[in-house]
Amino acid sequence: MPHPESQKPAFSVHLHGSGGGLRGWVVVDTLVDGLAMGGTRMTPGVTEEEVAGLARDMTQKFTLAGLRIGGAKAGIVADGSDREDTFRTFGRTVKPLLHGGIHLGIDMGVTPADRAVFFDEAGYDPRFRPGVPDMPIDWRTYYEPLIDCTGHGVGVAAVAALEASGRKGPARVVVQGFGAVGRAVATFLEERGHVVVGVADVQGTVSADRLPVADLIAVTDEFGRIDHSRLPQNVTVTGEPDAWLDVDADLLVLAAQKHALNAENAHRLRAGLVVEGGNICSTEEAREKIAASGSVLVPGVIANIGGAGSAALAVTRVVPFGLPAEARKAWVFDWVADRVRRNTRDLLEIAAARAGDPLPELLESRRKDLLR
Ligand SMILES: NC(=O)c1ccc[n+]([C@@H]2O[C@H](COP(=O)([O-])OP(=O)(O)OC[C@H]3O[C@@H](n4cnc5c(N)ncnc54)[C@H](O)[C@@H]3O)[C@@H](O)[C@H]2O)c1
Repeated sequence: MPHPESQKPAFSVHLHGSGGGLRGWVVVDTLVDGLAMGGTRMTPGVTEEEVAGLARDMTQKFTLAGLRIGGAKAGIVADGSDREDTFRTFGRTVKPLLHGGIHLGIDMGVTPADRAVFFDEAGYDPRFRPGVPDMPIDWRTYYEPLIDCTGHGVGVAAVAALEASGRKGPARVVVQGFGAVGRAVATFLEERGHVVVGVADVQGTVSADRLPVADLIAVTDEFGRIDHSRLPQNVTVTGEPDAWLDVDADLLVLAAQKHALNAENAHRLRAGLVVEGGNICSTEEAREKIAASGSVLVPGVIANIGGAGSAALAVTRVVPFGLPAEARKAWVFDWVADRVRRNTRDLLEIAAARAGDPLPELLESRRKDLLR
């Protein structure tokens, strides 16, 4: 069962490679019914501590969502220059874990094609596991239509938090990060009448009184890079660091890198509400500053569960696979939206009632629900 915060991970494995060299870790933070899952991150600077923090985040996401699976994460120290070899070696090395109930998916620096390589090398297919029914469709057929599920959930968290604050009219929104998550959130919020006034990618910040989201998406590549030579008329562009913080807005969605909001820049925050679309987007100090200033933050472990949650729904066989494709997708989106909405509302209720971080109390209450 998910454990109190103070405990150590269930286990942590150092990877040195089988049939080739490799440096990395698999951290299994918790096991539930012998199962755990999480993504695989490959960066030149990833550390065991970072992997452990991300595995803990996975535990929290599943606990909050009421999913009976533990949290895990893998990290590979590499620059991706020899991917085929790296992922073949990774697949051979983690083979016993994959077959033993530790499902490893994709995270930063790892693509669906890389996943196919390490699954193949390990002879692992998540459709089949002893003791549970087979998945009647393959992983990609299930998972690929759900690409916008994370952004959808983040949008639901934002709307729930705006409603809880008593806001009636449209909110002015800034989205930091315009990748898979940022684009889906911006679209979701615009469709519900909110006004996107700023969008940032790794090159800088684009702002206007009203940004046309579809037009921006049309000039953005698959990596979330906006082509500045093809921007709509009457927008302002700046390469000033963290300029997304200076745009006058009611809501800031963080959907880019770790620690985007930190002790050095948190004082620039203008929005009363921050929703984390990415993982660990704000540091502990930033969170304290935000709370002290009276702003509200909905953490990623509540808002961005769409990707992890929809994968876990399949691994734990909760998805009604008998539904036709469109209905199955709608079922997963609704399931995620329900969990995100309820967790956001409950978190804000606790925050309104007591000083301090409301997340531990909410986690404790969801842990008890899982034990029932
Ligand atoms: N895709 C998912 O389902 C999912 C699920 C949970 C969490 N996340 C996390 O959410 C974040 C975004 O995910 P994604 O899939 O949209 O990633 P992505 O790679 O598709 O897009 C990332 C975006 O962030 C921008 N960016 C990077 N560094 C930046 C910086 N310093 N300043 C401003 N913008 C910057 C990039 O230009 C790009 O627009 C990541 O941290 C990811 O780990 C993603």
